[in-house]
Amino acid sequence: MTPDDFIPNQWYPIFDSSKLKRRKPVGITRLGEQLVLWRDGSGSAVCTTDRCPHRAAQLSLGWVRDGCLECPFHGLRFDSAGQCVLIPANGEGEPIPRGFDLPTRKVREAHGLIWYWYGDSEPAAEVPWIPEAPEPGPRTSIVQRDYPVSYLRVMENLGDIHHIPFVHRATIPRAGTRVEMQAAKLDGAVIRLKVSLHHERPGWMRPTYSFTSAMCLPTLATITVAKGIQFIASATPIDRDHTWLWARYGQSYIPGWLGGRIVARLAAKFDLELVFTRQDMRMLASQQRNNPDIASYHLFDADRAIALYFGLRKQAIDEASAAADHSTIASASCETPVLGSRNKKGSTATSITAISQKQSL
Ligand SMILES: [Fe+2]
Repeated sequence: MTPDDFIPNQWYPIFDSSKLKRRKPVGITRLGEQLVLWRDGSGSAVCTTDRCPHRAAQLSLGWVRDGCLECPFHGLRFDSAGQCVLIPANGEGEPIPRGFDLPTRKVREAHGLIWYWYGDSEPAAEVPWIPEAPEPGPRTSIVQRDYPVSYLRVMENLGDIHHIPFVHRATIPRAGTRVEMQAAKLDGAVIRLKVSLHHERPGWMRPTYSFTSAMCLPTLATITVAKGIQFIASATPIDRDHTWLWARYGQSYIPGWLGGRIVARLAAKFDLELVFTRQDMRMLASQQRNNPDIASYHLFDADRAIALYFGLRKQAIDEASAAADHSTIASASCETPVLGSRNKKGSTATSITAISQKQSL
């Protein structure tokens, strides 16, 4: 795995807040690492590596007791700072030998999700979000599932409307194949896309369906699938070749007390389990190859959102790399004269600007 597979210095959604209960830890793999999530005595989410420092049992098979995570193998307990506070075999109150503490990971909760900071820099103040996306509530429902494809294939698919008349012929019938782009542009950190699909004959065009979508780093996208029905999804990497796809569907037709959640649930189930799993995944699995990037692609106009996403991704990777170079040089400069710094930002900014100018409408 190369360091460039995942976008560094980003908050990634890794779990739905509502699924993490008080007493039972959860084991997950995200961004190539086995992690355990649990809630401490105050209810705050805690994330550490899912291995007991004693003899490597998975801590996620254990329990939360007295606000601590308990290993299921020999009962070692760890507090929310990862510190081992009890080795039962040695006795209560006995000093803990060195090497029994767990490395903790930076997490926070926002928008009904648990977010994980992936990177060496200080965490950003805010998690990324698309402002119009549905928040947790009685008119929403979530779905989640693991898929054996790179998260990049899923992100591409979320910015791709023009596959609909081919891949979804059975569920979205009579969609036109000619793409009319009303917008494909960067709006701050958000890529905004507005597309309609038309039937076309010589000298004649008729609109069929319109879609509005948005994407932002590292793994978020929204699509308005029908008037009043929208979802936000995260295609979070499990590892290079597997993705945890989470989505929250919201609808604005039926209030919660009248079964609004059920309507959102039906839309979510239909879209994820029938449309995405049975139809999209067939194509996405066929795209898998060793290089997760898009260097070998030949894109055309309708792929603008995909080009913009990969442009932002490259910019973020280059910035993280430049920051790492800078900190290496800064620490070396304590002992040797400063030789100058490599600045990769200039060239990256140029290329992103070029993409923005070329791809925006
Ligand atoms: Fe699709």
